[in-house]
Amino acid sequence: MTANRPCRGLEAILGQVPVIPVLEIANEADAIPLASALAEGGLHVIEVTLRTEMALAAIERISSVSGCVVGAGSILNPAHAEAAKSAGAVFGVSPGSSIPIIEACSSLELPLLPGAATASEIMHLQNQGFTFLKFFPAEAVGGHRALKALSGPLPNVRFCPTGGINPENVESYLALNNVVCVGGSWIAPPEAVSECRWNDIRRLAAQAHSLGKISD
Ligand code: 3PG
Repeated sequence: MTANRPCRGLEAILGQVPVIPVLEIANEADAIPLASALAEGGLHVIEVTLRTEMALAAIERISSVSGCVVGAGSILNPAHAEAAKSAGAVFGVSPGSSIPIIEACSSLELPLLPGAATASEIMHLQNQGFTFLKFFPAEAVGGHRALKALSGPLPNVRFCPTGGINPENVESYLALNNVVCVGGSWIAPPEAVSECRWNDIRRLAAQAHSLGKISD
């Protein structure tokens, strides 16, 4: 057991919304209007991936938006975790996991959602104390059928699947008992962001929010 209750705080964050927008923010000036549009549509828990030069500045700006809960995605090493925490992220997301990332997030008290795609990866993270995981890349590794199959032998883990989720397949994920919410980028299409079409994004967020979490 490396981490001290590494999921602490995650359930309260993930359980607030059916969908977490996964954002790549290229322009710092987009951060506040984009986050505000998403939150006004009901999706106030937001993941900003550390894939752009502006990501940390965007996290800092969004952390000042009342009601928004901002996390940092694409955490690949301890330095990412430290920078994310300093910028104001209140949770971290990684496509996978490593002991250094787990230890860094634990000592920073940054709740971490690590990624897993196989039974062995899930078991390894369970042994580290995690009960909430990102299932990634969801569609490419078997989609909702794979997640449903994993729930049999691994009933005590809940997932936020991401990767290839869209308006056509999102409900098949939300219907699963082992899914707490999903993540996806479709709510904030890059062309809508670059054209500042905040009303369109607000509408997409409201549509996703209205799906709710579906019980079996
Ligand atoms: C992620 O970073 O979690 C995924 O890349 C998001 O996947 P999507 O762009 O297919 O929604």
